[in-house]
Amino acid sequence: MSLLPYALARPFLFSLDAEQAHDLTLDGLARTQNTPLACAYAARRVDDPITLAGLTFPNKVGLAAGLDKNARCIDGLAAMGFGFIEVGTVTPKPQPGNAKPRMFRLPQAHALINRLGFNNDGLDAFVANVQRARFRKTVGGAAPMLLGLNIGKNAATPIERAIDDYLLCLEGVYPHADFVTINVSSPNTANLRTLQSDEALDHLLGRIAQRREALVSAQGKRVPLFVKIAPDLDETQVAVIAAVLKRHGMDGVIATNTTLARDAVAGLPHGKESGGLSGAPVREASNRVVAQLRAALGTGFPIIGVGGILSAADAQAKIEAGADVVQIYTGLIYRGPALVPEVAKALKGA
Ligand SMILES: Cc1cc2nc3c(=O)[nH]c(=O)nc-3n(C[C@H](O)[C@H](O)[C@H](O)COP(=O)(O)O)c2cc1C
Repeated sequence: MSLLPYALARPFLFSLDAEQAHDLTLDGLARTQNTPLACAYAARRVDDPITLAGLTFPNKVGLAAGLDKNARCIDGLAAMGFGFIEVGTVTPKPQPGNAKPRMFRLPQAHALINRLGFNNDGLDAFVANVQRARFRKTVGGAAPMLLGLNIGKNAATPIERAIDDYLLCLEGVYPHADFVTINVSSPNTANLRTLQSDEALDHLLGRIAQRREALVSAQGKRVPLFVKIAPDLDETQVAVIAAVLKRHGMDGVIATNTTLARDAVAGLPHGKESGGLSGAPVREASNRVVAQLRAALGTGFPIIGVGGILSAADAQAKIEAGADVVQIYTGLIYRGPALVPEVAKALKGA
């Protein structure tokens, strides 16, 4: 049980600029992880194992990518009781991202809008941080939490050369990942989402699958590959993506990233900011994409459902839509770390 109720910390954090609050929280996690102070946010991990893509997930709740872009806080986040966490998106070279301000809270809608633009310290720093994490050594007899490493492209790399960036990142993270996520769905890197179209995705995943085979031979382990997609896709586009994923032997899909739609936040302060909208307003579109993916992929193909989970009931709805496990990001900002065991308990055995 956490010693510091999030209800006490939240008003202070919400009085700050959203990105400042985020940076302060991550600095705090980085400083306190692996120390007795971690009891302020630690929770016992709910034991509810499920096997997907050949991996045993200790429970069904994960942290979505983008909260810890540089993999600085893996152990602190692991202490919150997640069954798996995803860090990144990492790009080959460091880059500053877009101009600030670039992250906004919409509290009336339980939402965020961000246009960070893959601000990160680059692949070398990311891998060094991942290697420093101790979570695999401190689990005792329990199944270790799983670590997903999420990869993307630099803003300065032309979209025609995007494959080079993904391959560089894949090579770099492969030895350290339980799974690798290929992010082709951030709305904040120009043209990234065009990689989701039939021909572009076919070409990208073909090259990535080929490189993975080389890595399997060289390193003697097969790391599952997941592809993360947007909610702003129609049923035909989802069906095309599903076919391409299967064609190239991808191991799973993560649905979804943030949305470009703004109807749910029209008229709210910050409702017109550009970027990706997350939290409650993306839930319906994410659930629709999950359901369409499940229909197109059939049973047995792993789907990680993400988007708009702020309660146990939201997570249950995501599983009912067809997801095997779920991830959260914005819910953590509004509900705090207590949401993790709450959702994990509710999904136990689901
Ligand atoms: C501030 C912020 C930054 C994000 N950065 C990334 C990222 O770098 N890579 C990625 O794949 N998804 C990123 N996401 C998307 C989330 O992982 C998630 O897919 C999306 O927010 C929907 O889930 P949620 O409603 O629980 O937040 C980001 C989301 C937010 C709010």
